[in-house]
Amino acid sequence: MTKIAIVTGGSRGLGRNAAENLAARGIDVVLTYKSNQDEAEKVVKSIVAKGRKAKAMALDVSKSKSFSGFAEDLQKVLKDHWGKDRFDFLINNAGIGTWALLKDTSEEQFDELVNIHFKGPYFLTQKLLPLINDNGGIVNVSTGLARFALPGYSAYASMKGAMEVLTRYMAKELGPRGIRVNIVAPGAIETDFSGGAVRDNAEMNKHIASQTALGRTGLPDDIGPLIAIMCLDETRWVNAQRIEASGGMFL
Ligand SMILES: NC(=O)c1ccc[n+]([C@@H]2O[C@H](COP(=O)([O-])OP(=O)(O)OC[C@H]3O[C@@H](n4cnc5c(N)ncnc54)[C@H](OP(=O)(O)O)[C@@H]3O)[C@@H](O)[C@H]2O)c1
Repeated sequence: MTKIAIVTGGSRGLGRNAAENLAARGIDVVLTYKSNQDEAEKVVKSIVAKGRKAKAMALDVSKSKSFSGFAEDLQKVLKDHWGKDRFDFLINNAGIGTWALLKDTSEEQFDELVNIHFKGPYFLTQKLLPLINDNGGIVNVSTGLARFALPGYSAYASMKGAMEVLTRYMAKELGPRGIRVNIVAPGAIETDFSGGAVRDNAEMNKHIASQTALGRTGLPDDIGPLIAIMCLDETRWVNAQRIEASGGMFL
């Protein structure tokens, strides 16, 4: 039976790579975007060209009041395109990077990070829970910065730390339905994240590579397949785990 995954922030970067890797492993995808519809439709096209079904939907994860409407629209999409009422996997991936030292972080920056990286996934998951099939799964996305500390990421990394705790609580409460919940923690990856700094700032890239056991920065293809395999039956006994994929950063 066809399984369906919802990937938030699937228009670019890690979410896009995860969506394509889920599809490559036989899982259909509903991917969301915030404003980049064109990029999202390109991902849909590339998945459809490879023989799987995909749909793109707009969703701003910082706007929790919109989640009821999103859930209703999602039910319609599932019915119209799959003839189903439910989906199987939720990938809470969407996010932004904000760099600011503790002494300079504004309340607005802090609130935006809470809303996108913690409150959003919390209430989106709550709202979508009735639509997730029993024995499905959730993959959250953290960061290496929740294990090691670099100046400027106090607020961002704290939200991800909260997601790591929430992952264990989700796993505990959803276990009776057979839903397993894990969190993937990428190291520094070359995407548009934080203005594309890891990819485009040669000095930063070199520094991170020098602090990584495998001697380079990460690429989206180092993360997407990992997120995808966390939805396969082969990993069914992995639950409530933080899985870091950083090439061995700051050991
Ligand atoms: N790249 C890294 O070094 C790194 C390392 C560790 C963890 N992460 C985490 O990995 C996740 C993905 O990051 P990425 O590197 O793939 O970033 P990215 O390339 O900048 O892509 C961000 C994605 O999130 C979407 N998005 C941004 N704000 C949103 C909002 N308010 N509501 C809904 N969607 C929103 C974007 O949609 P649009 O295209 O419509 O703008 C896009 O699809 C994030 O949670 C990030 O914290 C990244």
